[in-house]
Amino acid sequence: MFAAGALAIGCTSSAPSDELCPAGDCFPGETPDDAGGVTWDPADGSSSGDSGGADGEDTGGEPPGPPSSGLPCEVADALAVACGGCHGAAPAFGAPMPLVTYADLQVPAPTDPTRKVFEVVADRLVADVKPMPPDGEMSDAHRHVLLDWIAAGAVEDPNATCDPGDGPDADPVGPDALPCDPSFEVRAHAPGDPDAPFLVPAQGAEDLYQCFAFKAPFTEPSQAIAWAPIIDDERVIHHWILYRTQQPQEDGGVFPCDLSLQLQADFVAGWAPGGENVMMPPGVGLELGGPDDWYVMQVHYHNAAQYPDAADRSGVAFCVPETPEPQTAGVLTLGTTSLNIPAGAEDHTEVGNCGGLLTLFWPELHIIGASPHMHELGRAMKTVLTRQGGVTETVIDKPFNFESQGMYFNDQEIVVHPGESLQTTCTYDNPGSAPVGFGEGTGDEMCFNFVLVYPIDQLANRNCGIVF
Ligand code: HEC
Repeated sequence: MFAAGALAIGCTSSAPSDELCPAGDCFPGETPDDAGGVTWDPADGSSSGDSGGADGEDTGGEPPGPPSSGLPCEVADALAVACGGCHGAAPAFGAPMPLVTYADLQVPAPTDPTRKVFEVVADRLVADVKPMPPDGEMSDAHRHVLLDWIAAGAVEDPNATCDPGDGPDADPVGPDALPCDPSFEVRAHAPGDPDAPFLVPAQGAEDLYQCFAFKAPFTEPSQAIAWAPIIDDERVIHHWILYRTQQPQEDGGVFPCDLSLQLQADFVAGWAPGGENVMMPPGVGLELGGPDDWYVMQVHYHNAAQYPDAADRSGVAFCVPETPEPQTAGVLTLGTTSLNIPAGAEDHTEVGNCGGLLTLFWPELHIIGASPHMHELGRAMKTVLTRQGGVTETVIDKPFNFESQGMYFNDQEIVVHPGESLQTTCTYDNPGSAPVGFGEGTGDEMCFNFVLVYPIDQLANRNCGIVF
């Protein structure tokens, strides 16, 4: 076992039992017992503190505590822990409605006004496709509390007096919480004005993939030893991914994203709700590239609530050491391009093998994170390491949601020795009437696991077992 060092701040401290946490940290509900996986700031109105009134009585005058939410305490608590990070009193990260009070659950559902919110909640809690919470992970106990309450008629409890749930302490997130001074920032901005916010339209921005391009500011190959997400308009930002590419871009360009980018670019960093600051292990720097590199930040906005004043300057701030660290981390691609997903298939799997002969001339390779990449049909991804003698170790095994992608960071490094093999399995559902193969279009599929490893510079190939 490796010391649970400072790989991903917050991940290591808040989710000790989970081997990997998305996008620099953990989604709410990530830990098996739901205790400690939530990384929300109670002050932003989106944590469990909102949901439980300390006193149920409305005195009409100065109430002694917050009023009752009208929900039974265990229901309020389950919603706060599993959903509150996004569906708080002020919905965040693209969630269209709050799920905090009894009234919140009785109004018409945003996407289907013929049904009430609680009815749609029951569907999404058990949905195979687009489950809620989006990573599919919440405790069975919490899921049953919600399903049982809804099945029993979603009855109000007007006098519930609940202890405010003890929302776990979140580690501070953002550039100010970094142990170093960030000198390189990439941020969303208005076309033609790098200092003005990007205006997210109220209409038609249900699933807006906006891209922002930047020329690398470096005169020589550079690294990052730590970075912090800058999350600006929480109401509408859903997730972002920063890519690095040698394909020339327009410095300061703002344009609709094109999926083909992923084939010519390396994943550098990503954030999804719950993501926190990230630190590289001591002595390791993340490869940022040099003067000939470009960055494209792909931001997924989700303005489902149609906020008319959504304006965003989200992005990322990197600490760039003056002298590079001895070890360089970067992305190794695993998976396969040989895909044939039959029409109507459910749980269809495709496998990519990075076999022992291919790893024979590798150095000892340390895996610190992984970022699965598939398209809309992707449901799950798993990468398993097989050691000499047949012992296996799971590198990653996660449900996949095209709309919530990020990097999962290891709590402990996994070291791959020469001759060991890595097998990546992608699982798909294809509800369509035609088979689907590999390609870069939205209607095509992919099966790539972008694995963050060091020393990347000692690998002759940055992909393993993949035939392009
Ligand atoms: C990481 C953020 C996040 C978390 C946590 C989360 N949601 Fe959501 N939720 C969203 C987003 C974004 C949408 C809009 C996109 C969609 O429908 O998938 C959404 C949509 C929904 C909808 C659909 C509303 C409609 O009218 O179609 C329901 C119902 C829902 N969430 C319930 C829940 C419940 C219940 C939980 C907790 C068990 C939960 N969500 C946890 C982000 C989240």
